[in-house]
Amino acid sequence: MNIKLSQREFSLFKELIYAEFGISLSEKKIALVQSRLHKWVKALELNSFKELYEHVVANPHELVLLADAITTNVTSFFREENQWIFLEKFIPKNYSHTKKIRIWSAACSTGQEPYTIAMFLHEILPDIKSWDIKILATDLSHEVLRKAKKGEYKKKDLEGMPKKLLNKYFIKHSLDSYIIKNELKNMILFRSFNLVAGDYKIFKNPIDLIFCRNVMIYFNKHTQLELINNLFNLISSSGLLLIGHSESIAHKDNRLVPIAPSIYQKRGF
Ligand SMILES: C[S@@+](CC[C@H](N)C(=O)[O-])C[C@H]1O[C@@H](n2cnc3c(N)ncnc32)[C@H](O)[C@@H]1O
Repeated sequence: MNIKLSQREFSLFKELIYAEFGISLSEKKIALVQSRLHKWVKALELNSFKELYEHVVANPHELVLLADAITTNVTSFFREENQWIFLEKFIPKNYSHTKKIRIWSAACSTGQEPYTIAMFLHEILPDIKSWDIKILATDLSHEVLRKAKKGEYKKKDLEGMPKKLLNKYFIKHSLDSYIIKNELKNMILFRSFNLVAGDYKIFKNPIDLIFCRNVMIYFNKHTQLELINNLFNLISSSGLLLIGHSESIAHKDNRLVPIAPSIYQKRGF
């Protein structure tokens, strides 16, 4: 029997999801929430979504499962092509003198974004072995982080990946999948971090490039402002904030100057 999510139950989840993850669900998302949570109601043999809500509230460690169920994790390798074209000149120009760069993929989903960063750096820096590079990759959802750490991708996820890069950075794993080589995996530290409720004091050093792409769209204006302020405080003096092309921080923080489409730098540099 299909259990229906009532308007009242939807409101309870909506408030909880906003309070815990900062994600603002519009009223139109009721069908989506119902379909995403239905399997969970069934698995726990509950009679209603209200019972699931009570279960999650009584067992806060299960909030991670709510995050897994509710988040949208669409991503791809080399997403936002114009940003890579920009970085190809920006990185050697600004960091070759120190050969040190700190990068954060702040909503890394299933790993395509941080692995693209690692691959890209290998391609543009012929002397990469002499560089001091650290890539931190975080996400709210534990499920996507598990997949990201594994680094296994189906052929269909790799459509458009140049053959040269596929041969260089992946190993054929099964008939239908490839796995990222350790050389790239070892460059990345995967961790869970909630961009809305997380403690930004854990970041001890400035970060040169922050990729915070295609996640702000799920937050309301107030949450976006707080997030941008937190990110601003972390960016190194000549560093960049990279966002998704359908997002904007215009008028939200004039301390950040757009220097290319969806790329911002601290004012004065
Ligand atoms: C659409 S994906 C974007 C992935 C990648 N940045 C890209 O542009 O391809 C959005 C990711 O944001 C994560 N997310 C949503 N709310 C979050 C939060 N409050 N803190 C951290 N990550 C969050 C989701 O789990 C999801 O993996």
